[in-house]
Amino acid sequence: MKPGKSKNGGFPRTIDTVYLRITNRCNCRCLTCVNGGSEDGDPGNELTYREIAVVLDELGGLGLKHFTLWGGEPLLRKESPRVFKHAKKVGLSTTICTNGILLERLADDLVGCVDHFVVSLDAVGPLHDRLRNRKGTFDGAVSAIRAVTDRGASFVKIWTHLNRRNIGEVDRLISLADGLGIVVEFFPTHAETPDMERVVLTDGQKRKVFSRILSKKQSGAPVANSDHFLNHLIKGTTFRCSYPKTAIEINDNGDLYSCERPMGSMCRVWGNIRDHRVSELVTPERLAPFIEDMKDCNYCSIPCIFDTSWEFNHRIRG
Ligand SMILES: C[S@@+](CC[C@H](N)C(=O)[O-])C[C@H]1O[C@@H](n2cnc3c(N)ncnc32)[C@H](O)[C@@H]1O
Ligand code: SF4
Ligand code: SF4
Repeated sequence: MKPGKSKNGGFPRTIDTVYLRITNRCNCRCLTCVNGGSEDGDPGNELTYREIAVVLDELGGLGLKHFTLWGGEPLLRKESPRVFKHAKKVGLSTTICTNGILLERLADDLVGCVDHFVVSLDAVGPLHDRLRNRKGTFDGAVSAIRAVTDRGASFVKIWTHLNRRNIGEVDRLISLADGLGIVVEFFPTHAETPDMERVVLTDGQKRKVFSRILSKKQSGAPVANSDHFLNHLIKGTTFRCSYPKTAIEINDNGDLYSCERPMGSMCRVWGNIRDHRVSELVTPERLAPFIEDMKDCNYCSIPCIFDTSWEFNHRIRG
């Protein structure tokens, strides 16, 4: 399906999701992440609440459906709860991806305006703190999960990227999710820098661990991964990335792009939402050659990219 024009000007009608990297600052320093390490650092050129509200108004009017806030650590921005409230007001479903450190103290503000809580956990206990380079992170994230579920949050998911350091944690994370009454979703760690090649899973390790996750899921474990995604990793198949057809990403400074990997050499920034309306920046004419260039890019073996692409390519989505 081509990203045809909608009746809302030229904005491609297939795009229904927006991701906002509201800050690149973070209160952790994860060994596998290129963000992090500047909790009190210079907020630089971060979008203000008002600028974000203007863009959400436009996106609501264009008919987008889903809004995700992430970063960096999105809860370092005190504006995040207001941003979610505004996103709900304009009709978007809302998701946060967070390390959970600040979540417990904000639980009252967030439950009610966040539909999906995604809390990252790399391991159970001290290994998580070591991988996140910050003591107390595991206990804080688990207390936060309890805080939001106690307040009625109905969709809470643990997100775990697996590498050679935490490959042995699968069963413990599944038991943790089970005990908390929530689900867990796994995916492989990406090598964001050449250094990380040493820790990412080999094809054989991927096959073994994701086969185990599939068989746990089939026995009733609270694993949120789709069978398609697990089989893709087990069989080492490729996929056609449709993400640029369905989602846009906005960086902390307002740069808008169509790919999950803003640092990738292929990534093109369409412009800045401070200077232009989104519908001026994202047009079928601009998207079409980018989609063609990226269709065989398989960099992101992440559920949100793979499953969206799978569903799109099988025409489950509009
Ligand atoms: C960049 S973080 C931003 C949100 C928040 N700070 C957090 O940790 O949840 C988004 C997700 O990417 C994951 N992540 C970090 N480094 C990764 C890597 N090298 N490969 C795959 N996922 C990674 C994190 O664990 C988290 O689930
Ligand atoms: S908490 Fe999230 S953004 Fe921060 S360093 Fe870790 S993975 Fe990166
Ligand atoms: S798989 Fe490639 S094209 Fe698709 S979102 Fe990831 S980096 Fe972008």
